[in-house]
Amino acid sequence: MGEPSRSVYLDNAATTFPKPEVVYEAVDGFMRGVGGSAGRSGHRRSVEAGRMVYAARETVASLLGIPDPLRLVFTRNATEALNLAIQGLLKPGDHVVTTSMEHNSVMRPLAAAGKRGVASTAVRCAPDGLLDPADLEKAITPSTRLIVLNHVSNVTGTVQPLEDVARIARAAGIPLLLDAAQSAGRIPIDVSASGIDLLAFTGHKELFGPQGVGGLYIGAGLEPEPLCYGGTGSRSSELEQPGELPERYESGTLNAPGIVGLGAGAGFVRTVGVDQVRSHELGLLERLLGGLAGIKGVTVHGPAGLRDRAGIVAITFEDAQAPAVAADLDSRCGIAARAGLHCAPCAHQTIGTIETGALRVSLSYLNIEEEIDYFLECLAGII
Ligand SMILES: Cc1ncc(COP(=O)(O)O)c(C=O)c1O
Repeated sequence: MGEPSRSVYLDNAATTFPKPEVVYEAVDGFMRGVGGSAGRSGHRRSVEAGRMVYAARETVASLLGIPDPLRLVFTRNATEALNLAIQGLLKPGDHVVTTSMEHNSVMRPLAAAGKRGVASTAVRCAPDGLLDPADLEKAITPSTRLIVLNHVSNVTGTVQPLEDVARIARAAGIPLLLDAAQSAGRIPIDVSASGIDLLAFTGHKELFGPQGVGGLYIGAGLEPEPLCYGGTGSRSSELEQPGELPERYESGTLNAPGIVGLGAGAGFVRTVGVDQVRSHELGLLERLLGGLAGIKGVTVHGPAGLRDRAGIVAITFEDAQAPAVAADLDSRCGIAARAGLHCAPCAHQTIGTIETGALRVSLSYLNIEEEIDYFLECLAGII
C-alpha cells in the first residue's frame, strides 16, 4: 500500500502539530541569531538570551493570570513540574487527595511517595469522568497537605469543576495543585482569581511550544524542596542552592530555544484569545460528536454536555478494536489518532474502558471543520 494522499493530525492531546509559524521562527531566530546561555555571562548574546527567557516567562504568566512571573519556574515538561510539587512538598505522614481521572504523571509520583509514608486518596469520579466536589471534600482528613486536580482529562476531555474544588481547598487551608497539561491555552485559566496555589503545565500541547519545556507556578508561601541542585548563574561563590525564584528550581543551562518557542506559542494564544480558542474547539467538537452519533456501533465516552468537555474524545467500538482502527486510520487515510490507555489507566478504569482502551481523537485550535468531516468519513468506512 502506498502513502495515503492526505495527512490529518488528530493527536493534539499527545502534542500539538503543526505549530503556529511564529513558533518555528522564534526557535530558529534564537538558535541562529542569539544562541547565548541565559543568565550566565555578561556579553550581549547571554544578556539577550536572558531577556528573551524573561519575556517568555512574562507571556506565559500573563496568559495564565500568574501575578508574579518570577514564581513561574521552567521545567522539562508537566511531569517534572508535578514531581517537583509532589516530591518537594510532601513528607512522611502527609495525606493527599486527588481524583481517579489523573494521569500517571500524578499517580506514579504519588505511588512512589506512598513508599515513603505519604498516604493518598483518589476520589472516584463518575463514568463520564466528572468529579463530585462533595466527594473530594469528604476525603479530606486532618493530615491532608495537598489536593491534586486534573483540570482537563487527557482521555475524555472532561473539564473538572475547578472553582468548586478551589473553594473547598481554600476553606480547608490546603494548597491546590492543578494539572493544567491539557487545559493551559485551551480553556481560560486565571491563577489569581481562582486561588490556584500550584499550577503545572507543559509547553508542547495547546500552548504550542516545542517539546522539552513546561513549568510550575509556585504560590507565595510555598517552598518545595528542589528536585535538582546545581549551577544557576547566581551566587556562584556559595555551595548552598540559592533561595530566590526562579533560580532555586532552575539548575543547569536552560532550554532557551524551547522556552523562547513556548513564549511565541503562548503569545500566539494570547493574541487569538483563549475564549476564541475555546469557542473554535467547541465548534469542531460539536461537529465531531454530531457525526459520531450517526455512526453505528460507536460509543463516545465523557460528559453529555459540551460545557463540561474540551476537544478530546474517547471512542470505543462494538465490532472493532481501537488499536486496529487507529492503525487503519493512519495507513489508509493518513489520520493520526491514538489508541490505548493514554498513560491514564485509572481514568480508563473510571470510564469502564480499562480492558479495551479507547481511540482518542484530540483537536487543537489549528484543526479545521473539513478535517473533522474527513475523519468521520474514514472512520465510517473502516468500521
Ligand atoms: C493530563 C496530563 N497531565 C500530565 C501530562 C504530562 O505531560 P508531559 O508528558 O508533557 O510531561 C499529560 C501528557 O499527556 C497529560 O495529558
